[in-house]
Amino acid sequence: MGDENNKADNESMVQSLDPKQRSRRDFLEGAGTTAVLGAAIPVLGVSTVHAQQGSATASATSTIRLTVNGQSRTVEVGDNWTLAELLRDQLDLTGTKIGCNRSECGACTVIMNGKPVYSCSQLAVWADGAEITTVEGLAQNGQLSPLQQSFVDNNGPQCGFCTPGQLMTATALLANNPSPDSDQVKQALVGNLCRCSNYNAIVEAVVMAGEKQGAVA
Ligand code: FES
Ligand code: FES
Repeated sequence: MGDENNKADNESMVQSLDPKQRSRRDFLEGAGTTAVLGAAIPVLGVSTVHAQQGSATASATSTIRLTVNGQSRTVEVGDNWTLAELLRDQLDLTGTKIGCNRSECGACTVIMNGKPVYSCSQLAVWADGAEITTVEGLAQNGQLSPLQQSFVDNNGPQCGFCTPGQLMTATALLANNPSPDSDQVKQALVGNLCRCSNYNAIVEAVVMAGEKQGAVA
């Protein structure tokens, strides 16, 4: 896959993940935090953000409530923090990786209210009231999820840096389509780049996880 195709595919995936989301770059280059939040919060249906009044500064904070991997959390966040920064730097959930930090690679993908999103391109305040699942939330009682086990069985990870994001997108796919074929898997994972180019193994891992899921059901 060429760089141009990757970029085009990836941009398309970003839109399919959340057509209303703005890139972190767009946000940071915008007129100001307060103005951006004022426009974005109603669009995303966030009803209770306690943003400080006054001009936007790096020290402006808001208190948000969210559920992360089944655990309710109340956190004071910087208004300019991304969701990835909140997860990694404040909640110690470093399984979520930051690759490009600009909506191009998918390494930072988490599930937000059932949909895969790039956490590098979501403001933390937009997650107020949201239900978030990170890669740390997949294993239960010390047991890998069937999808994680399928990644192991099919040598899905090479360096492994893209793996958390691949897992989260594929988990969301399997929740909606329990037995996807390889074309459906490729389409779903188009926004998750693997610099090791281990795509065949990754697709096979997801297809096999779906087949096993179907066999058990
Ligand atoms: S780190 Fe978020 S898309 Fe690359
Ligand atoms: S396994 Fe190395 S980037 Fe995907």
